[in-house]
Amino acid sequence: MKLYLITGGAGFIGSNFVKYMLEKYETIQIVVLDDLTYAGNLNTLKAELNDQRLTFVKGNICDQQTVNSLFQDYLIEYVVNFAAESHVDRSIENPQLFLQTNILGTQNLLESAKKAWTTGKDEKGYPTYRKGVKFLQVSTDEVYGSLGESGYFTEKTPLDPRSPYSASKTAADLIVAAYHETYKMPVNITRCSNNYGPYHFPEKLIPLIIKNILERKSLPVYGNGTNVRDWLYVTDHCKAIDLVLHQGKTGEVYNIGGHNEKQNIEIVRIILKTIRQLLEENPEYRTALKNDPKNSGNKSLDWINESLITYVKDRLGHDQRYAIDPTKITDELGWAPETKFEDGIVKTVRWYLENQDWVQKVTSGDYQKYYEEMYGKK
Ligand code: NAD
Ligand code: DAU
Repeated sequence: MKLYLITGGAGFIGSNFVKYMLEKYETIQIVVLDDLTYAGNLNTLKAELNDQRLTFVKGNICDQQTVNSLFQDYLIEYVVNFAAESHVDRSIENPQLFLQTNILGTQNLLESAKKAWTTGKDEKGYPTYRKGVKFLQVSTDEVYGSLGESGYFTEKTPLDPRSPYSASKTAADLIVAAYHETYKMPVNITRCSNNYGPYHFPEKLIPLIIKNILERKSLPVYGNGTNVRDWLYVTDHCKAIDLVLHQGKTGEVYNIGGHNEKQNIEIVRIILKTIRQLLEENPEYRTALKNDPKNSGNKSLDWINESLITYVKDRLGHDQRYAIDPTKITDELGWAPETKFEDGIVKTVRWYLENQDWVQKVTSGDYQKYYEEMYGKK
């Protein structure tokens, strides 16, 4: 039975990956290591915590003792490193934490894995490793910087990160690549475009817009709303990671993206339309509306329109456009996205309408303070 260490497994993509793997593989053992920062929540793994195949450990990837003892206690074969500080806006406010978690945390995991997996040395002095082990670093298209109106990021695009977040992810990628070159460690790096789907923390564009509409609040669009992101449904990302982990060529980088570029303002308009339609068709969803006192099926939903949009101060150093060329993963591993955006966004909005208790729980802590600090001054 294969044993996976999944770091950041209580966050957005990590938790979707845990669910995906438990569903797909009957005989699997997963250890989740997560420090449960504001972005990680055990409610997200509520059902999985009762599953014998999952062990949850609360701990920091930067903590040498914690990570080393995990490798001593469990015969870990795969490490999938999702754990990170992931929000660009927060990295602009507090870069140091991003360097600590994203760079030093990754190096700490690499070092423990190397120690645990080394079986000896080859004739040139390189470490040799236990058969079948791999370290997969979950990275981002943001390491390539920003595109103009045309072109795509390929795996050969020079690294050109521009925010403290993307700089920290780039540094992590480089240290992973260095462990491969210097110690021949079996690694892969995946670089994915923007994900969306269930369990996305409502500080990121799509879940924040959904939450604000349901609370009848203004919808903050940075700058003029023409920045472009390339959106991928989270399960398609999980499938790609599973493929790379098991079939990816050691040492290689794989870009992941589904050719689904949209301007931010388009995304906001699509969400407005989708929420309104779902509420009209399913009056029971109106309980999700926070400022709909009677929650009555007859009340007009006319207020759900573009007048809620507010253009606010732009993000500092805001990257204009991201777009992934996924040719390599498609040609080499046969990956292709399965969820069309039109379907994925309806599934996502529906999930938020049906899971308001999750939203309440994950935003009950410091979220309010964050929101006021971040948007109060815009
Ligand atoms: P997230 O912020 O939702 O989750 C991060 C998780 O990591 C949380 O559960 C948090 O508690 C945990 N964590 C943070 N610091 C930790 C530490 N020091 N030790 C242990 N756990 C810690 O992030 P996400 O959106 O799920 O992103 C996951 C990974 O995927 C990140 O590495 C991110 O860079 C990458 N990525 C994200 C996207 C996206 O669109 N969200 C796209 C491409 C790549
Ligand atoms: O491209 C992959 C990256 O996608 C990941 O590496 C990051 O972890 C992830 O957070 C995401 O980064 P972005 O900065 O692209 O995502 P975010 O949802 O924060 O913003 C998407 C776009 O929407 C971006 O152009 C900024 C804009 N935006 C965002 C927020 C939160 C707004 O206009 N208003 C907002 O309130």
